[in-house]
Amino acid sequence: MPHTSTSAPRVRQSEFRFRCIGCGDVSDRASQNFRCSRCKDLLEITYPQWSVSATSFPVKGVVELQSTWKQRRLSSSKIDLSGVWRFREVLPTLENAEQSITLREGNTPLYETPRCSRITGVPRLFAKHQGMNPTGSFKDTGMTVAASFARQAGFRWVACASTGNTSASMAAYAARGGLRSLVLVPEGKISWSKLSQALDYGAVTCQLHTDFDGCLRLLQELVLRAPVYQLNSINPFRLEGQKTLAFELLEQLDWQPPDHIIVPGGNLGNSSAIGKALLEMRDLGLISRLPKLSVIQAEGANALVRTLREGAGKRLMNVNAETRATAIRIGNPASWKKAVHVLEATGGSCEQVSEVEIAQAKAEIGAEGIGCEPASAVTLAGLKKLLKQGFVKPDESVVLVLTGNLLKDPDYTIEFHREGLFQGTVHEDESAALKALRHPPIVLDATLDAVIRTLEQADQTDSHG
Ligand code: F0G
Repeated sequence: MPHTSTSAPRVRQSEFRFRCIGCGDVSDRASQNFRCSRCKDLLEITYPQWSVSATSFPVKGVVELQSTWKQRRLSSSKIDLSGVWRFREVLPTLENAEQSITLREGNTPLYETPRCSRITGVPRLFAKHQGMNPTGSFKDTGMTVAASFARQAGFRWVACASTGNTSASMAAYAARGGLRSLVLVPEGKISWSKLSQALDYGAVTCQLHTDFDGCLRLLQELVLRAPVYQLNSINPFRLEGQKTLAFELLEQLDWQPPDHIIVPGGNLGNSSAIGKALLEMRDLGLISRLPKLSVIQAEGANALVRTLREGAGKRLMNVNAETRATAIRIGNPASWKKAVHVLEATGGSCEQVSEVEIAQAKAEIGAEGIGCEPASAVTLAGLKKLLKQGFVKPDESVVLVLTGNLLKDPDYTIEFHREGLFQGTVHEDESAALKALRHPPIVLDATLDAVIRTLEQADQTDSHG
């Protein structure tokens, strides 16, 4: 595989191979369904030349690599402006990097969260906001890599099954790259906001009478029958791009690892990608200590939690997924083995949180002036649990990965503030405690008096609350 030169010493842009996570078979090529031709397990991308350099990786090389990545932030070249391709030494190499399909993804902010710090009692609490990507979710960091490789491989069509964000991202990158895209989503189970993105970007969008797991099963069969390139996170190029979240995070922290990174878990591609990045950073000498990576799921979509508790991490425990956090409404996560591996390797934990805990955490993140979609809020809700259990200590540093933008699911937010979210559900009584977090819109006569009265009332509520 070709590799181009780079200004960074010793680490070349990366030759790569596909390795089966089950039987370890290494190959130059991957089949259409990105499964091992021998044992059918998932593939991951490896970089054979790193195994030579890893044990004796020179410190000077590390420092110069870090400085190269930093300097690229001043560059105006197309690939340097991408917060993903800026880290191209740790990504598979395109034949021509300038041919990458990019929307300037990555480069997302790391926010301090003072209100959430007060709520949790964790002073060093940060939020890495992947919802600030071009299509509003972390999917863009993986999509730039995988869509670029799809085009390089000569495909005309790309396809995915999705709970919404993958489809929005894929449709955008396909459009930018001159590719056609096919979206399979569960009918009635994804947010209109995400669906509207796929429509506008020109995808052929199919709403199937099934759930996400059903869509993904169908896609896996489709790619063996039709010349479409699948862009779900089963595709290992996606995970390579999503890895850069962790490289960028560590750069933002001056390469001082936080004690904990907490991420939502659905199909489990993202946690696997972040974990892979952490292990690679340690092996390359970029960090000297591993943060603990923890995965949080919704109680109603807790396949990984159950797999670890009831299946000892060896046997997948499927569930019939149900949660209002529709992005993670997944019962049969494809990358569960990869996620179990990185949880064990980093010493992380896995927890589940209730619908009411998710709603509360989402409102608390909103009150920071940041906001996120419901699936992202499981991280804060999960942190509260991990603190109670003593797994996270208040004096430790914690990074929450917020995966999607607040505007991704406006219906959820509006229903929450108008009190409709849990009405008529088993959560109605429990959710009454969230009243103080609600800010419903107020319909008024268009008079100055009415507005001033409302202002005064609100001022009093604030001073008392
Ligand atoms: N958060 C958001 C906002 C998501 O959209 C997803 C997954 C996750 C978390 C979970 O990440 O699957 O890598 O464990 N959304 C996918 C989709 C499945 O189709 O958009 P994961």
